[in-house]
Amino acid sequence: MKTKFSTLAFQLFLAFASSADLPTLYQYYTSDGITSGLSVDQPYFTLNGKNITLYSGEMHYFRIPPQYWRDRLRKLRAAGLNTVATYIPWNLHEPRNGSFDFGSGGSDMEMFLDLEGFLAAAQEEDVLVIARSGPYICAEWEWGGFPSWLLRDENVKVRTSEETFMRYVERYLSTLLSLLAKYQFTNGGPIVAFQVENEYGNSPTNDKVYLQQLYDIFKHYGIVELLVTADSPKRGTAGTLPGVLFQTANYGSYPVELLGALEEMQPGQPLMAMEFYSGWFDHWSESHHTKSDGSVRRDYEASLTYPASVNLYMFHGGTNWGFLNGATIGPGDNSGLAPTTSSYDYNAPLTEAGDYTSKYDMIKGLIEQYNPIQTLTPEPPALIERQAYPAVPIHSQLSLNDILSKFDDSIPSSTTLSMEQLPINDNSGQSYGYIVYRQEGLTISADSTLTITGHVRDTVMILVDGVLISNSLSSSDDFNNFGYWRLENSTISLTSTDLTDATLDIVIENWGRGNSGHMYRQVKGLVEDNHVYLNGQELSSWLIFPLEFKSSWTKKLTGWSSVDSTSLSKGPGLYKATLSVDEDRTDTFLDMSEWNKGVVIVNGFVLGRYAFIGPQQTLYLPGPFLQPGDNEIVIFEHFEPAAEVKFSQDAIFNNL
Ligand SMILES: *[C@@H]1O[C@H](CO)[C@@H](O)[C@H](O)[C@H]1NC(C)=O
Ligand SMILES: *[C@@H]1O[C@H](CO)[C@@H](O)[C@H](O)[C@H]1NC(C)=O
Ligand SMILES: *[C@@H]1O[C@H](CO)[C@@H](O)[C@H](O)[C@H]1NC(C)=O
Repeated sequence: MKTKFSTLAFQLFLAFASSADLPTLYQYYTSDGITSGLSVDQPYFTLNGKNITLYSGEMHYFRIPPQYWRDRLRKLRAAGLNTVATYIPWNLHEPRNGSFDFGSGGSDMEMFLDLEGFLAAAQEEDVLVIARSGPYICAEWEWGGFPSWLLRDENVKVRTSEETFMRYVERYLSTLLSLLAKYQFTNGGPIVAFQVENEYGNSPTNDKVYLQQLYDIFKHYGIVELLVTADSPKRGTAGTLPGVLFQTANYGSYPVELLGALEEMQPGQPLMAMEFYSGWFDHWSESHHTKSDGSVRRDYEASLTYPASVNLYMFHGGTNWGFLNGATIGPGDNSGLAPTTSSYDYNAPLTEAGDYTSKYDMIKGLIEQYNPIQTLTPEPPALIERQAYPAVPIHSQLSLNDILSKFDDSIPSSTTLSMEQLPINDNSGQSYGYIVYRQEGLTISADSTLTITGHVRDTVMILVDGVLISNSLSSSDDFNNFGYWRLENSTISLTSTDLTDATLDIVIENWGRGNSGHMYRQVKGLVEDNHVYLNGQELSSWLIFPLEFKSSWTKKLTGWSSVDSTSLSKGPGLYKATLSVDEDRTDTFLDMSEWNKGVVIVNGFVLGRYAFIGPQQTLYLPGPFLQPGDNEIVIFEHFEPAAEVKFSQDAIFNNL
């Protein structure tokens, strides 16, 4: 099965040679010129006046290596699907207040952000596009796609018509929609529909003025294609503007009941499931979620025969790179936090690494059975090669204490500041990663206690004179103890001896901002509620160190010391290994099961997080992220480093 991939031209020849008489999708719908887009003015969809059922699959360009966009799109088309749906994340496209990145903006994520390139690739792969443009997207993505710098202004009330929020929304959407307008179907492009907001019927804010304002902005900036909303039909019309925004349904089961409810709300109009769940995502410490082929088949088939158009959420999940996973949150105090894993495999028809599954074949078969419109589809592309490279030893280490002692721009502050409040990144604050609060010159008597009030956001390590004194993560039960978010007003005992001129570090990790529910104040680090007391006396005058792990920063770290398995020191620290590869640079997975908790950085790029509690044990490392020759793998481990980095050909989930 695992053949080396041939040239694109040869693949195209193979793909189209077999059924050469059929028109492509675009030929079928546009060869006589384009006069109209996707229409819902009759009980079925038409595109340019011709009947169409949208066989759609969701995949997110920002969760897929750009070098593989074509591969994943062709796999989608080869399954008979005719549409790809993607969210568009505001936080990546406007990483700083007023500065945008659509592929060349200079952020560490820029290679993923060539949205125009993705749209062009979709069209070239003969696929239509649904643009789920937000501004809020949920998506199990960091703060539902909102940029963290919005948190610097306390007036901002996300997902409402509040004025300051809407000013930022309009500035972003004016930029985004002006770019997207030329890719609309009636302008000769691939986009047949735009989704406004997301599951707004679930939002505690319930502000119809806001939805109307969004509608007006889409219209004002030249969007002429169909505008839709997506909600569970159980929410009625809470998330939409009836007659103005076309409503679609989200569900994982009971298709007949829920499509029936949608039909009652929009009689005489076609039906679409914008999210029919092909699987599900994982939070850390859960069991890996799977959804059986049988249940997906039953409910997909019942949806198609209802009849309805269906977007499979997800067709291909991909990866929450870097620090970009979202979290489920409970009440506003962070006590109910449940961060999502870096893998967004989703148990979807294509795996995180783009492999076919039995669900893929099943979906392909159903579309062949039910789609009456025959167009040219390519052969499923060959698998992309993947291997378990031989393990590589950790050869260098750099303790967090060493990093802090050489830190160029720590920030002195009389009080603690949250990440977002830091005067960095052109006054956009710190978005992601870790932050350290340091006290110097402390006198700490034996058996002193340190108390942090409130619930921490999100994990805390305590160092005294550079040495970790808080516990390693031993199981997810530790989330109830000091160092994690569930406990209110947590306390730790600092030393058993008297110390003078001591240094205390509080190292805090942002494990992902909430992506749904009550998500106003998703600030991280030490926030308003978090006061720090030493033996009952509040501490002030801090040195603050933002640890963002930006590529440029990680690459220029110096002072590494050589180690082998016998001289490895405990965390927190950075541990380096070198992977040498040849021109082939095949995909692989890093097997982190022998490490405890941290993040992996490859050639400066933060690949994602690991935690031995799982379910995720491996991190997907796409071949294109490697370079021929030596590749630096740097691991930030909180607690217990392993002596080597192992690789695996396949993803590993533990099912605790
Ligand atoms: C379009 O679909 C409708 C509903 O299934 C059907 O009645 C109509 O005949 C179709 N039109 C064409 C041209 O196939
Ligand atoms: C964004 O930048 C503008 C102009 O510098 C400033 O007035 C505004 O307060 C900033 N907004 C936030 C949320 O930081
Ligand atoms: C935590 O401390 C605050 C005062 O700082 C107090 O109001 C609150 O009741 C305490 N909570 C618990 C669970 O002890």
